Amino acid sequence: MKKTYLTGLQPSGDLHIGNYFGALKPFADAYEQYDSVLMIADYHALTSLKDATELQKQVMNIARAYIAAGVDPDKCIMFQQSRVSQHTELAWILDCVIPVPYLMQGHAYKDKVAKGLEANAGLFTYPMLMAADILLYDADLVPVGEDQRQHVEYAREAAKKFNVAFGDTLKEPQELIDKNVALVPGTDGGKMSKSYGNTVPLFAPREELQKAVMSIVTGSGDERPENVYAMHKLVKSEEELAPLYEENKGKYKALKDALLEDLDALIAPMRERYNAISDTEILEIIEKGSEKARERAETKMEQVRKAVGVR
Ligand code: ADP
Ligand code: TRP
Repeated sequence: MKKTYLTGLQPSGDLHIGNYFGALKPFADAYEQYDSVLMIADYHALTSLKDATELQKQVMNIARAYIAAGVDPDKCIMFQQSRVSQHTELAWILDCVIPVPYLMQGHAYKDKVAKGLEANAGLFTYPMLMAADILLYDADLVPVGEDQRQHVEYAREAAKKFNVAFGDTLKEPQELIDKNVALVPGTDGGKMSKSYGNTVPLFAPREELQKAVMSIVTGSGDERPENVYAMHKLVKSEEELAPLYEENKGKYKALKDALLEDLDALIAPMRERYNAISDTEILEIIEKGSEKARERAETKMEQVRKAVGVR
């Protein structure tokens, strides 16, 4: 029996190369060894994104991105969270077992409040929706970035609390955080993130890739521009880069041109696949995947409903 490997991505913005190296590529490299489930978490995105057209576009783009990155939708379950209503159903039940003070420790919620911003109730109970995502499929392993570690702990805690209250029903999952997955730096040298406006886009046309690469911040006087080098290391080994950087000491333009070529060599075939998949094909894939997910989720929900005494 293969272990169940489940992860999710929020369709909340255009994908960047940080998402590729941190999420898409690791999934594409590993998913065939497992019983794999890949979810497009549109209800999670709704905690921040309030634009129907944009949300729908991003859902399609995430599915398209995973396929372009090499994921075969016939070899895993790729689906849209909102098409499987069991997720919100289980989330409610988990809300009824988790104490409020525990949810108040949530990073996403605490950060928002610390910034003096108003958090919606969805952001507050976000960890229980994510717990439902995971527990509905008896996931063993949840590959995530360090920032999501706490959320998988919440899922474990929710499963424990549920099992104590209602009897053994939910499987406790384990987070899988790969230390070898690099944190991709942005054009300003900080963590690349759509929230910081420092991204290098993943599937944009070459001209936009070029614009982003040329905007990488370089310190004056450095023989080796660190921010350029840090990004370059993602696509070439340090041994391969040594002669290039030796020959072009202090020549930032030449080094950026070389980085652009190397990035484009990686991205161009993916970009081509990305642009070749039609909306109709993507919709079909999402519908088919969601159908499979619904079947599995319903089997679990039947056990859960029986355990708690509803329906
Ligand atoms: P963003 O920071 O742009 O909002 P998300 O939080 O939506 O990105 O991240 C989606 C996935 O991409 C997560 O699995 C996250 O770990 C990964 N990821 C995002 N930014 C980076 C980065 N700079 N380096 C590596 N992985 C990243
Ligand atoms: N919260 C995750 C993120 O922002 C996305 C997500 C939703 C997820 N449900 C999940 C990740 C279940 C792993 C498992 O990145």
